[in-house]
Order: sequence, then structure tokens, then C-alpha cells
Amino acid sequence: MRRRIVAGNWKMNGTVADLATVAEISTAAKTAACEVVLCLPATLIRSARNLVGMEIGGQDCHARAEGAHTGDISAPMLRNAGAGWVILGHSERRRDHAEIDAQVAAKVLAAWEAGLTVILCIGETEAQYRAGETLGVLAAQIAGSLPEGATPANTMIAYEPVWAIGTGLTPSSDEITRAHAFIRARLPDPALSILYGGSVGPANAAAILALRGVDGALVGGASLASETFIPLIHAMEAAHA
Ligand code: PGA
Repeated sequence: MRRRIVAGNWKMNGTVADLATVAEISTAAKTAACEVVLCLPATLIRSARNLVGMEIGGQDCHARAEGAHTGDISAPMLRNAGAGWVILGHSERRRDHAEIDAQVAAKVLAAWEAGLTVILCIGETEAQYRAGETLGVLAAQIAGSLPEGATPANTMIAYEPVWAIGTGLTPSSDEITRAHAFIRARLPDPALSILYGGSVGPANAAAILALRGVDGALVGGASLASETFIPLIHAMEAAHA
């Protein structure tokens, strides 16, 4: 049995006023038949943890535990603030901060060392998709950004086609199933969970979460409001009831 999870990624959104949304989601998470985690801006992690019992994560961490790295946040700092999880290798980090696989791999090791569970993001760009390079890109990203030592307890993979993030576009069911099977065959342990991410919302969650090999979702836009995120938790429960 692989872990089933719905993870929210708030990205650079949310202030103290939005802790009310965290509380609403937390109430639904308490009785959920799957894992639920919210990856919040670092500024909200401590107050969210103090407010609710649910799992909270960060969205990035530095590869070092401390030092002269102005503006960065380390994995032990996230842990100390109350996070149990961290998203690493998100395409927006790769794009905005020119992160490459080797840096992502170093961050994964730092996160494990701090006791954080990693959601490692991989996925092809639109140009790579159009050129038919999807599977090759996924193979290279797994080889380059997932160090030895991944277990179902410390790591999940999120397949996020870059062109599907925030666009309302999604791959076909066949494409998602094929990508997940391809990824699974390249993981050190086939029991690692693989989430799909990219424009998941209440309208398409049931269909996507029911696909073979899809163990959950990583959700951006629809995770920002309880009205759109809680239905995804229910869709996950229904898909594997
Ligand atoms: P989206 O973002 O759900 O808004 O497409 C997903 C993600 O970037 O994790």
C-alpha cells in the first residue's frame, strides 16, 4: 500500500489573515482517509503549527544547515519552525533561481538530515513536451536530483509538467499514466508515492486521482481556498475507497 496524499503549495501567497483558511483545511484533514499537508510560505509555518495539528511543509531549503547565505532558510530552520515536509526542485525554483539537479540533490540530503519528508518535483517544459522529450527529461531529473537513500518514509515524487502549472492545461490520462509508470520504474523503491501536479482542481481531481499509479496530488492555485482544496481531499478518499 503506497502513501496517499493531497499536498497544497501556497507558493508566494498568504499572510496572517489566511491562517483562517489553514484552520478550515485542518479540520477536514483531521478525519481524512489520506495524508494532507500544506506547504506554506516560511513566514507562516510557526503560526500555522501553533494554530492547527495538521502537517505543514516549506517550499524550499538551502543545502547547508547554517551560515552566510543571506535570505536563505535551512532545513533545520524549517524543522524548528514546525515543518515536517519540504517541496524541493519545484519548476518555479528551477526557473526563477536557476536551480539545477545537483543543487536539488544536495537540498534533498539536507532535508533528510533534518528529518523532513521531501516532495521532489520533476517535469518537462512545454518545449520539451512538444519535442517528445518528456520521458528523457524525467529520467535525467530522477538520476540527477534524487540521491541514494530515498524511502517511502522520507520522499515522495511529484510529476508536474511545467506547461500544466497554473495554466488550466493537463496532460491526457494516458500521458499521466505513462509518465507515472515510467517514473516508478526508475525509482529505487517502487513503494515510493508519486503525486501528479499541474492545474488540479475540483473539476478534474476525481478523474486524475483515479488513474493507475497516481498516489496523490500537489496542488497550487486550488489549495489557497478551503472551498477548492477540501473537495480534493474528498476526491482522493473516493478514488481509493
Ligand atoms: P497549480 O500549481 O495547481 O496552480 O497548477 C501546481 C504546483 O505548482 O505545484
